[in-house]
Amino acid sequence: MQKPYADLSGKHALVTGASSGIGRAIATQLHHQGAELVIAARRLERLEELASELSGARPLALDVRDPSAVQAALGQESFDIVVANAGLGRGLDSIQEGSIEDWSAMLDTNVKGLLSTIRATLPAMIAKKSGDLVLIGSVAGRQVYPGGNVYCASKHAVKAIYEALRIDAFGNRVRITTVDPGIVETEFSLVRFRGDEERARGVYEGLQALQPDDVADAVLWAVTRPAHVNIGEIVLWPTDQASTTLVRRQ
Ligand SMILES: NC(=O)c1ccc[n+]([C@@H]2O[C@H](COP(=O)([O-])OP(=O)(O)OC[C@H]3O[C@@H](n4cnc5c(N)ncnc54)[C@H](OP(=O)(O)O)[C@@H]3O)[C@@H](O)[C@H]2O)c1
Repeated sequence: MQKPYADLSGKHALVTGASSGIGRAIATQLHHQGAELVIAARRLERLEELASELSGARPLALDVRDPSAVQAALGQESFDIVVANAGLGRGLDSIQEGSIEDWSAMLDTNVKGLLSTIRATLPAMIAKKSGDLVLIGSVAGRQVYPGGNVYCASKHAVKAIYEALRIDAFGNRVRITTVDPGIVETEFSLVRFRGDEERARGVYEGLQALQPDDVADAVLWAVTRPAHVNIGEIVLWPTDQASTTLVRRQ
């Protein structure tokens, strides 16, 4: 297979949330470019199935909500590329009717889990004065939409963490990137609506959504630029989506 981007042979890469959707596509594309992979998520059987397709990829059962487990699993490794992708949405209730349990799931995963992943892996990048840290944010980190409240807050936090990292890690030659997609067709809505397939399908109906490979393509482009180029923010939308509230459906 022809490699569309620079060769990543010899690069050690981590993708969290690699058992599904965007993370799975990023892992697959990094593998095709030659990177050695650690693929992390909670569902080990899914990771093992993916690892059987991506020879040499190492599955890692990891819940990013457990900071000690994240530190123990990742803190001793030295990655060249870290993609902090694990995340989820839960429900679309108003704040006044919202579930505190759902809020905790989103904040613990999307914000604290992302921070634990960074805390465990960034020091090694700083020590060797190179590396790519890619955050998967969202357009929900830039605009709020009805019912999006706490999910949007979690992704606004990702954008703030991205901006803070650019300052905190500055001077160490570590490149920080945030990739912020609009609607991507994945299991995201199935998780958000707790397995309600019909409701989840409705999110993508009549619309040509982004596909996980479109997001992976943006990540691959960012991490294969020359060392002096840091792609900061990539915002990608489906052509049929103008904002978080304006979607064209056939
Ligand atoms: N789909 C969209 O429209 C869209 C748009 C913008 C941004 N995003 C963001 O893209 C990222 C990936 O989402 P997706 O669309 O690919 O959804 P997805 O298909 O549901 O994949 C989510 C991934 O995150 C993992 N994950 C969830 N909780 C985790 C935890 N506690 N510990 C470790 N891994 C965990 C899941 O694995 P396990 O369940 O096996 O742990 C799964 O691999 C998320 O951060 C999401 O917010 C999605």
